[in-house]
Amino acid sequence: MARATRQTTDEIFDLRLNRSAPDLWPMLDTLYGQHPEYDSFRQALLKALRTSWDARPADLKHLDLKRDLEPDWFQRPDMAGYVFYIDRFAGTLKGILEKLDYLEDLGVTYVHLMPCLKPRPGDSDGGYSVMDYRAINPAYGTMEDFEEVATALRARGISLCIDLVLNHTAKEHAWAKKARKGDATYQDYYLMFDDPTVPQQYEQTLVEVFPDNAPGNFTHYPDFGKWVWTTFNEHQWDLNWANPQVFLEIVEIMLYLANRGVDVVRLDAVAFMWKRMGTRCQSEPEVHMILQALRACSRIAAPAVIHLEEAIVAPAEMLPYLGRGIHDGREGNLAYHNSLMVQFWSALATRDTALMTHVLATHFPERLNNATYATYIRCHDDIGWAVTDEDAAALHLSGPAHRAYLSDLYEGGFPGSFASGALFQVNEATGDKRISGSFASLAGLEKANGAEAVEMAVQRILLGHTLIAGFGGMPLIYMGDELAMLNDRSYLDQPDHAHDSRWIHRPKMDWSVAATRDQGDSPAARVFRGTRHILARRKAVPALHGALPVRVVSLGVPGLFAVRREAHTGVLLGLYNFTERWLDLPEATARAQGITQMHDALSDAPVAADGGVIALPPYARVWLT
Ligand code: GLC
Repeated sequence: MARATRQTTDEIFDLRLNRSAPDLWPMLDTLYGQHPEYDSFRQALLKALRTSWDARPADLKHLDLKRDLEPDWFQRPDMAGYVFYIDRFAGTLKGILEKLDYLEDLGVTYVHLMPCLKPRPGDSDGGYSVMDYRAINPAYGTMEDFEEVATALRARGISLCIDLVLNHTAKEHAWAKKARKGDATYQDYYLMFDDPTVPQQYEQTLVEVFPDNAPGNFTHYPDFGKWVWTTFNEHQWDLNWANPQVFLEIVEIMLYLANRGVDVVRLDAVAFMWKRMGTRCQSEPEVHMILQALRACSRIAAPAVIHLEEAIVAPAEMLPYLGRGIHDGREGNLAYHNSLMVQFWSALATRDTALMTHVLATHFPERLNNATYATYIRCHDDIGWAVTDEDAAALHLSGPAHRAYLSDLYEGGFPGSFASGALFQVNEATGDKRISGSFASLAGLEKANGAEAVEMAVQRILLGHTLIAGFGGMPLIYMGDELAMLNDRSYLDQPDHAHDSRWIHRPKMDWSVAATRDQGDSPAARVFRGTRHILARRKAVPALHGALPVRVVSLGVPGLFAVRREAHTGVLLGLYNFTERWLDLPEATARAQGITQMHDALSDAPVAADGGVIALPPYARVWLT
């Protein structure tokens, strides 16, 4: 690439522009075509794309070409992600350079650095209240450090994901400050009202995201006489995406970060980006037009970059983030499989996989075009029990009662519960009680009293890690879960965190435990080695490629979850026992699914079927081929 002439790189840009123009302009025409300055906006956008391409470093242009040629790179079985807060994992950005061996040992090929751009001072919603998108949080280091880390990761074959918060900025962002001083141009970057009439009309149909500590969706600022749209916290001001200037600014920021070495942008809270009176103002059609247009901009000026869209919503609302209808293959490359996560916890609680099988078989397509799921069991956020009343009713359950049961069980109060967790944002109006807690604590390790209970907790964790590695998608391991770290209640002593129980599962990495991962049989060591094994085996199994169909099947064994992956080399049947009992699967049932070898690709060993029955131990997981 270093030798490529100026002319060839110009040609490449033009070719990519032509390729993606049909994805870009029709979206913008619809969104902004009526705007008086639409023509100059188009010119400015084109200029921004070209300028950013011109400034793109040669090694990244090389990566662009490589990924043009290997567009399935993020769907491959060798992809496995790890998600962490920089300070909690490694102190600073530079500190990450010393932890690369650890990441490689675990088998990670993707890291998501939790919010690392410059946040507002004080409570910043874990960094999701950004005051400067072009600067690194000074507590973590500098932009130079960031680029050094990006380069070091790339050299090890590890992709880098960071958050780009699209729905709001901190009220301390330069745009917000100017708006507050009365600058009309910048007031138009946000959603501001002179009196409460219109906000009250919107409130009729809006829901509250943080009902406990940030009720309502608007904040009144007497100092400049405006009501400002603040979906999340008071300090997070919603951007006005109906203003093309906001689109342009964000594209410039996105490409600036791409040119620093970012591979994956995690587009935060995208569902909320477009407002429409009389609706919940979530997942409106315009959101998908904006996201498709943003994707086209990356494909033109930084095609190595892919988009992870964060929308923690019901299945029917989530799938469009992976491109449905006119957006098929053109929108998010990755989106969180929230339903898989919720159903994992639900089935673990009930020891029954019927609801899980129903939801995952009914609402999700077998294939996605140019996209795959980000599969996970825990992340930095709470768990909301996104089980609809209709789905519950299909299994003769009451939706409200099932959701309340899950909250009680995972908070730990329900009789016989194995879990220890904490409530998050109890909503009196809807009865919703969301749950915080680390994987290990929710899975029973904290409460475990005796060797058998410890054993069950370890097996539950490995069941979850195998499920996200084998289901179909890119598994994301959340920092600390690979070492079975427990809830950390020290957040209660920190004024900026005490109101937010999500900090209970955002512990500091315990490097002394990590250091002994290859010795002894502690739960931490067993979970680490088990997880490492799972990721290593995933890499060795081509049938787990994300582009291959995912077919959730019912095998008629209550408590057993099964997912069929169909590769050219044959069928792989993922089997997951969600109970602490032995289950029997008739060999004939497996064979009827296309199983011929009776080999477990996870343990890489033959599977016995004595008397025509495959015996599955408590919490067994098998990748049967
Ligand atoms: C996303 C983040 C969450 C944050 C919210 C507001 O949902 O995951 O942590 O509170 O956006 O930015």
